[in-house]
Amino acid sequence: MKYYFYYKEGKNIVAAKDKERNAQAKRRLADLFKNKKDSIPDRFLNDWQNVALYNPSGYVKAAKAILINPEDGAYDFSNPINELTGREWVKFTCSWFIFNALHKDLKEEREVSPNSKEHPATFSPTMIEDFIKFFTKKGEAVLDPFSGIGSTLVACKRTGRIGYGIELNKKYCDISIKRTPGFKKNIFNDNAENIKNLKIPEIGFSISSPPYWNVLNRSTKDFKIKRTKNGLDQNYSTRTEDLGNIDDYELFLKRLAAIYFDVYELLKKKGYLVIIVKNVKKEGRMYPLAWDLAKILSEKYELKDEKIWIQDKIGLAPYGYPSAWASNILHHYCLIFQKK
Ligand SMILES: C[S@@+](CC[C@H](N)C(=O)[O-])C[C@H]1O[C@@H](n2cnc3c(N)ncnc32)[C@H](O)[C@@H]1O
Repeated sequence: MKYYFYYKEGKNIVAAKDKERNAQAKRRLADLFKNKKDSIPDRFLNDWQNVALYNPSGYVKAAKAILINPEDGAYDFSNPINELTGREWVKFTCSWFIFNALHKDLKEEREVSPNSKEHPATFSPTMIEDFIKFFTKKGEAVLDPFSGIGSTLVACKRTGRIGYGIELNKKYCDISIKRTPGFKKNIFNDNAENIKNLKIPEIGFSISSPPYWNVLNRSTKDFKIKRTKNGLDQNYSTRTEDLGNIDDYELFLKRLAAIYFDVYELLKKKGYLVIIVKNVKKEGRMYPLAWDLAKILSEKYELKDEKIWIQDKIGLAPYGYPSAWASNILHHYCLIFQKK
């Protein structure tokens, strides 16, 4: 027999066995399908014959969640942010995560565009998919104002969101178009400081990783030798509009923040902005780029949180040894802001 109603018993979600609640739930589900179809994610609609109603306390009338498999958790159909079940939602709220580049992502990227590794600092679409799934619903627009070779756009394609990107370097821009031809008209080979003049509609969410100040111009000899030998770029460009070429830290912060203030104007009300960035070091001094940016952007956005991304597969270099403290920075901050 199919059960139409589930509730919580201890830590488990269990089916109600009585006829009355199942009949009541069946009627409410039919109603929901008829009147609120638009607020139900595709994965439930496509498997509607297996959907059941859920209320933790066991009241059918108070139920505002649905489920297919109790082990996956229930989806609250009044959820305005995403299409996740409660279990999936909670899993994402951990304040840190470990993520190393995935072979499947690199393989896919290089099959489409063998020259993609020319870009010196990309992130993985799979990692971005999780953010997009948390902060948007299917069909919403997502903007990456520093889109590089298009990792965010690939994540949008995979999750059924509409990707928009801005990238200064034409070579990287062309790679992103090759990876996501469906978003060609949304990918701008331009300076993100011109964002106001680009035809970008209201967006539901923005996620990006900007240049980490001018770190690439100061990278280690090994990095430079290795990349030169393999004919790969050592920095993003030599252009003055490239934020990675600004040596003055305060000026860099100001121009970077101005771009994110412009993104604010495009964001929907209560929309979220995620910036992936690191604190950096120069000549033995730490520049708290992530914290400084968080403070400046808080003038307009509400700083909600940080989620720390840890890379644990990178070898440790003996910086400072044997005379002074110097860490290997293997974590990034995913700063989470919301439009007030
Ligand atoms: C950290 S990378 C982003 C990589 C991207 N997340 C990816 O996975 O491909 C930063 C990018 O910002 C671009 N950039 C630097 N200054 C820019 C500007 N003023 N406008 C637009 N893009 C810029 C660089 O060319 C570089 O590709």
